[in-house]
Amino acid sequence: MVEAPTHVPVLLEEATDLLTGNRGRIYVDCTLGGGGHAKRILEKNPSARLIGIDQDEEVLELAKENLREFADRVSIYRANFADLDLVLREEGVEKVDGFLFDLGVSMFQLRSERGFSFQIDAPLDMRMNRDQSLTAYRVVNEYPQRELERIFREFGEERFSSRIARAIVDFRKKKPIETTGELVDLILSAIPGRFRHGRIHPATRVFQALRIEVNRELDNLEVALEKTVDRLNPGGRLVVISFHSLEDRIVKNFFRRHRGEFRILTKKPLTPSEEEIRRNPASRSAKLRAGEKL
Ligand SMILES: C[S@@+](CC[C@H](N)C(=O)[O-])C[C@H]1O[C@@H](n2cnc3c(N)ncnc32)[C@H](O)[C@@H]1O
Repeated sequence: MVEAPTHVPVLLEEATDLLTGNRGRIYVDCTLGGGGHAKRILEKNPSARLIGIDQDEEVLELAKENLREFADRVSIYRANFADLDLVLREEGVEKVDGFLFDLGVSMFQLRSERGFSFQIDAPLDMRMNRDQSLTAYRVVNEYPQRELERIFREFGEERFSSRIARAIVDFRKKKPIETTGELVDLILSAIPGRFRHGRIHPATRVFQALRIEVNRELDNLEVALEKTVDRLNPGGRLVVISFHSLEDRIVKNFFRRHRGEFRILTKKPLTPSEEEIRRNPASRSAKLRAGEKL
C-alpha cells in the first residue's frame, strides 16, 4: 500500500489552546482535513463533542481513520463550510462553543495528482469538491483573456498577469492546455528571463489564483465567517489560520466589522515559531487570528 503523505497541523498547540480554553461542550472544525487539529481538540477537552466538516471526500477517509478512537464524540460531514448552518441543522445543534478554520489545502491534496501543485505533473483540476463542474482546465481554456488577467492579478497578486494571460490565450488557439506541466512551461516562457529563478517559483502565484477561483475560496470564507456570529454561545471562540494576505484581510475585516460582538484574543496575529517553520516549511506564511464572542 502506498503510504499517504502526512499533513503536519500548523500552529497546533496555539490554535487548540485558544479554541478549547473556554472549556466548551461543542466545537466545529470547519476544515477537518486529516483531523490533526480535531484530534488535539478532543484530547484537550475530554468531554467535548466535535463536528468536523470538509468538502473533500478523500481526506475525510483519512480523518475518520485518524479519529477512530474518538468516534463516539465526533460527527463528520462532507460539506462546504459556507453551508455550516445546514450542517448544524442536520446535527440538531443551535449554538456551539467554537469554530476552527485552518484554510487552504492539505498536504494530502498538494501531493495528490489532482493538479494543486506545480511540482507534480497532473491534469489541470484543482477541485476540492469533485462534484462541482468548474475545474482549473475550464478556467484556463475557457475564460476570456481579461478575466484570466484579473484573476491572476487579484487572487495571485501576480505582476506579470497580463503577459501570462496573453500567452495562455495564444497557446490555446492551437490546442487546449491540459496539464500543470504545460501551464508551468507557458508561465516560464511568458515572464522575463531574469524572473525565472526567483526565491519563489514563478508559477506559485498563478496556481494560487486558479485554486482560489476554482474553489471560490474567498467568497466561501466571507459567507462562512458571517454565519458563525449567530451560532456562537457567549464565550464561544472563533479561530482562523490563513495562509496568504487575501485570506488574512478577510479575517481582519470580519473582526473589525463585528467589533462590538467579539473580544479579540490575538492583538497581533500569531505566526509560527522559527522552530515550527524549520520542522514544517509549509507553515511559514500562516497567520492565526482569534476572537471570543461577547
Ligand atoms: C489545511 S487543510 C486542514 C488540515 C487539518 N486542520 C489537519 O490538521 O489535518 C484544509 C482543509 O480544508 C478543506 N476546505 C477548504 N475549503 C473548504 C470549504 N469551503 N469547505 C469545506 N472544506 C474546505 C480542504 O479540503 C482541506 O482538507
